[in-house]
Amino acid sequence: MAKLAVNVDHVATLREARRAIEPDPVMAAALAELSGAEGVIVHLREDRRHIKERDLYLLRQTVKTSLNLEMAATDEMVNIALDIRPDVVTLVPERREEVTTEGGLNVLGQMDNIVQATKRLQKAGILISIFVDPEPDQIRASKEKVGADMIEIHTGIYCDAKGEERERELKRILEAVDIAHGLGLIVKAGHGLNYFNIQPLVGIKEIYEFSIGHSIVARAVLVGFERAVREMLEIIKMKR
Ligand code: PXP
Repeated sequence: MAKLAVNVDHVATLREARRAIEPDPVMAAALAELSGAEGVIVHLREDRRHIKERDLYLLRQTVKTSLNLEMAATDEMVNIALDIRPDVVTLVPERREEVTTEGGLNVLGQMDNIVQATKRLQKAGILISIFVDPEPDQIRASKEKVGADMIEIHTGIYCDAKGEERERELKRILEAVDIAHGLGLIVKAGHGLNYFNIQPLVGIKEIYEFSIGHSIVARAVLVGFERAVREMLEIIKMKR
């Protein structure tokens, strides 16, 4: 059965909306693990818009499953990763203006940076995952040229597509999983997955892990809302 790794970035996004101390992504990570998630993922962005170094240091001390740091292949980020020592680093493309990661890494186009970052991190015992679109050339390069341990197939295009286009995108993912698995890569999948569009993917036994953030945080806000209101009402009514 595939594992679930939960991305807690958007718990931090809510915290940063008020520059407050809650909700704490470190507490969300612990709850995710208590609920059965087998990995915690955070993306440290250049602009620190959600996750901060403080979160990383605490997560490194508290995560009991696997800590996966998503980051750009820059010297600054590699140095931070070498200090924190996550279990896995996922190399992703990053543009300051983007709302979220917009696509897979162009491995073929940025080979030198990616190879250098991979070598430094692997030497420290950190596993390397490359976030790629379901494109055979990028997947082969991740294995044969970069020497990555795993890839994460970008499912965002499939998730955004409708009708026949979605069927085509699903087929591309299936083919990409086959190629990656055949090359001996551990295969993960993520981006844009929710409680509905994940269903055609859960039967693909070669997928080792799903990486999911936004839909889980969004659902948590709603499924927890009634309880949160009731608890506040109890306090208000207590002294009357
Ligand atoms: N995988 C990668 C590489 C990502 O950058 C993200 C978003 O941070 C995710 C998975 C999770 O995507 P979502 O929040 O849409 O579930």
